[in-house]
Amino acid sequence: MVNYKDLGLVNTREMFKRAIAGGYAIPAFNFNTMEQMQAIVMAAVETKSPVIMQVSKGARNYANAQILRYMAEGAVAYAKELGCEHPEIVLHLDHGDSFELCKDCIDMGFSSVMIDGSSLPYEENIALAKKVVDYAHQFDVTVEAELGVLAGVEDEVSAAESHYTKPEEVIDFSTRTGCDSLAISIGTSHGAHKFTPEQCTLVNGVLVPPPLAFDILHEIEKKLPGFPIVLHGSSSVPMEEVETINKYGGHLEAAIGIPEEQLREASKSAVCKINIDSDSRLAMTAAVRKHLAEHPGDFDPRQYLKPARENMKKMYIHKIVNVLGSDGKLAEC
Ligand code: G3H
Ligand code: 13P
Ligand code: ZN
Repeated sequence: MVNYKDLGLVNTREMFKRAIAGGYAIPAFNFNTMEQMQAIVMAAVETKSPVIMQVSKGARNYANAQILRYMAEGAVAYAKELGCEHPEIVLHLDHGDSFELCKDCIDMGFSSVMIDGSSLPYEENIALAKKVVDYAHQFDVTVEAELGVLAGVEDEVSAAESHYTKPEEVIDFSTRTGCDSLAISIGTSHGAHKFTPEQCTLVNGVLVPPPLAFDILHEIEKKLPGFPIVLHGSSSVPMEEVETINKYGGHLEAAIGIPEEQLREASKSAVCKINIDSDSRLAMTAAVRKHLAEHPGDFDPRQYLKPARENMKKMYIHKIVNVLGSDGKLAEC
């Protein structure tokens, strides 16, 4: 049994409180590899931002659970080495799909877990989330639960179509589960293909997707004043990264994300955690493809992973500073 506090990690409670009061959101970046982890830490330190490093079940299987625990500990030590005396780093399980997985992560040093019972019937979602909360809170680990179903594939939780969160359910759900934050569905979805071109409007040659359901978000905020709200599926799918990937041999068609202005607006509300994974995948892939196309003789992974890491770091900094507004928000520097 490892407690996250012994690894120098923090839970989400205090950072969420400050984010809601301050009108900004904490970045939750997914990672699977050392380069992603390094880029996240470098970006958080340079911008003096709290950060959530999150791993899905698939990422945990890919990286190995033991290695992840040491990577998280290493992330804290690395942040300090980079000059940040009091880093605020959360190690979070993204889309936990069972009590056992959440427990295993808590027992191995995670400071926060998500239990995603969003595809279950309402009462089963509550029962599962409450079971996780009851276990997690013994160790001061915070729990995110989800109500409403995002379109597309949520790790191994699939839903054919989007079911927006019903504001009339949020008080009952958060009270009975005791969860610390609530992921909601207001029109975001996972992956790099969030909308079809037919769902978008062409404005100055750019496909603009339909806006997020801010009316639902505001209704939820009214029902749960000051309660931390989470947005999944919040990559913006930068056109330049998609173009680079396609220019250098990739084939990504009709990749469309959430416009950053909408995420900026959401960050000012009770939305205090914004999940971004696909944009990191795109930044990494674009840089690797470009490097290898321009240097066909290179075969040392450091040669192409270094620009990939730089490109991800640039993207993370951009999100923190220009979209979420969490720069300079560490409690102590
Ligand atoms: O929401 C899902 C995340 O993007 C993680 O994706 O299950 O492929 O690691 P993954
Ligand atoms: P994106 O696929 O939009 O990056 O969403 C990631 C996410 O929600 C992880 O839980
Ligand atoms: Zn998600």
